[in-house]
Amino acid sequence: MTGHTPITTAFTAESTAAEVVAGIDLTGRRAVVTGGASGIGIETARALAGAGAEVTLAVRNLAAGERTADDIIATTGNKQVLVAPLDLADRASVTAFTAAWDGPLHILVNNAGIMACPEARTAEGWELQFATNHLGHFALATGLHRALAAAGGARVASVSSSAHLRSPVVFDDIGFRERDYEPWAAYGQSKTANVLFAVEASKRWAADGITVNALMPGGIRTGLQRYVTEADLDRLRAQAGSEPARWKTPEQGAATSVLVVTSPLLDGVGGRYFEDCNEAGLNQPGSRRGVAAYALDPDAAALLWQVSLDLLAS
Ligand SMILES: NC(=O)c1ccc[n+]([C@@H]2O[C@H](COP(=O)([O-])OP(=O)(O)OC[C@H]3O[C@@H](n4cnc5c(N)ncnc54)[C@H](OP(=O)(O)O)[C@@H]3O)[C@@H](O)[C@H]2O)c1
Repeated sequence: MTGHTPITTAFTAESTAAEVVAGIDLTGRRAVVTGGASGIGIETARALAGAGAEVTLAVRNLAAGERTADDIIATTGNKQVLVAPLDLADRASVTAFTAAWDGPLHILVNNAGIMACPEARTAEGWELQFATNHLGHFALATGLHRALAAAGGARVASVSSSAHLRSPVVFDDIGFRERDYEPWAAYGQSKTANVLFAVEASKRWAADGITVNALMPGGIRTGLQRYVTEADLDRLRAQAGSEPARWKTPEQGAATSVLVVTSPLLDGVGGRYFEDCNEAGLNQPGSRRGVAAYALDPDAAALLWQVSLDLLAS
């Protein structure tokens, strides 16, 4: 049990981001989408811009960002689509982004990510998936906290994955110093961190009117699978057992992100995990759906927050 009545909506795995945001007016709202120049990020940004928001694509590939912005402007008619440089694995880049941000921020979609890459480390020696998927977004969101608070009712989406079921945050060895590096364990750990961030941030920032929710977008064919072979995918599908893996379109993959940052049903709701446009229950043995109890653990969430602060201050 998650201890509260789960949020349910009329939307499903088939719903698209445009359907989820239909009828919602985001005029005057400002949004940031990390990784907004590819995959799910493009369609997340397009849906928010289509509803009238000013959208900043926070990307490390500026040329791709500009191409995406032009495309979104052309398809939505909203000219307020901006591009700004952000490399989540580079502390100076994150600091430069947050320092340059001026005014309120109503919507932050922590969407960028890398999956199951070969072992790699940042300049600090941090394991790259944890550094990119969690620490970079942690630094970004905490760096933007004042702007989020200034918005009054800001929403943050922490894009996680069902892969969080593969690993808790292993506090004794987050950096794979003592254990052999395993790409999926590292990805799973980072995606659990994305959920724990939503839990602790919602607690710490409730008084500022900021809510943070985590989500699983679904399985979508994107650049994310660049390190994954067909054999890996077959193995993952087999592990899904009786639940056949169905690929979503990017427009469907963006729907749950857009739901958690725009739906009136989530007013004041934070620290929860959504999939297929509805709040998920606890994972059951043998299933690849739902959220792991360890990902909602408030003690782990508080510890991760402190560990993250310590790492960034080191
Ligand atoms: N696709 C799926 O099936 C699936 C399933 C579960 C969860 N997710 C999650 O959904 C999110 C979006 O994934 P996607 O499928 O849309 O993948 P994608 O097309 O590969 O997009 C990921 C984005 O993250 C960006 N990125 C990677 N490292 C970065 C860094 N250091 N700094 C800034 N940006 C960086 C990438 O930029 P570049 O283009 O420059 O590399 C890219 O724009 C990820 O968080 C992923 O874990 C996806």
